[in-house]
Amino acid sequence: MKTLILNGSPRKNGDVAFLLEQLVSLLPGETVRLDAFTSGIRACVDCRFCKTKPGCALQDPMQQLYRTLDSYDNIVIASPVYFSDLTPPLLAIGSRLQASYMAKRFRGEQMFSRPKNGAVILTGGGDGNLDPAWDAAVKFLRLMNARSIAPLAAAHHTDHLPVSEDRQAQDGVRTIARWFIDHAGSSHSSY
Ligand SMILES: Cc1cc2nc3c(=O)[nH]c(=O)nc-3n(C[C@H](O)[C@H](O)[C@H](O)COP(=O)(O)O)c2cc1C
Repeated sequence: MKTLILNGSPRKNGDVAFLLEQLVSLLPGETVRLDAFTSGIRACVDCRFCKTKPGCALQDPMQQLYRTLDSYDNIVIASPVYFSDLTPPLLAIGSRLQASYMAKRFRGEQMFSRPKNGAVILTGGGDGNLDPAWDAAVKFLRLMNARSIAPLAAAHHTDHLPVSEDRQAQDGVRTIARWFIDHAGSSHSSY
């Protein structure tokens, strides 16, 4: 089993990092983590290259992600919420999935052919709601051809309840690990 984690937190020992450490300890196989804040991946500039041609004109580390994405069974999007959404560098990576969107919409092509399982981990201090972040993450997972998506794991009280004491959030992470194991090889089922 091979899992890609797209990490939207800039904090090395922060709340997302704590939950990811737990997740990685529970997952069999190989885990690869991409840290959005240091990835050097730029946001989509709507150049329309992908409207007529496969891939993306921007030459940066996103090209490697495009090339390797179909080698994964599972994709995890993990982020603190910033104003209820995914963090800007993670949204920048997500925006580059416009290449996948345009492939399907305008050329009837699938950019990523391998069906995958997906999951979302969110943390927040406790203000507002998580819906914008969840909605963006699900859209991005779909554009990476995640067909089956696990229930959300969230710690949304980190201002007052340390994530290390947030049982519900930790249970959520355990559920994701079990979900991936139970759904291994059956990512064709619909969400
Ligand atoms: C710019 C910014 C915006 C934030 N917006 C929200 C928010 O809308 N709702 C919320 O609950 N927490 C918000 N937070 C708090 C973080 O989401 C929270 O501290 C999170 O647990 C940090 O996770 P990390 O340690 O993995 O980076 C915000 C923090 C920052 C820096």
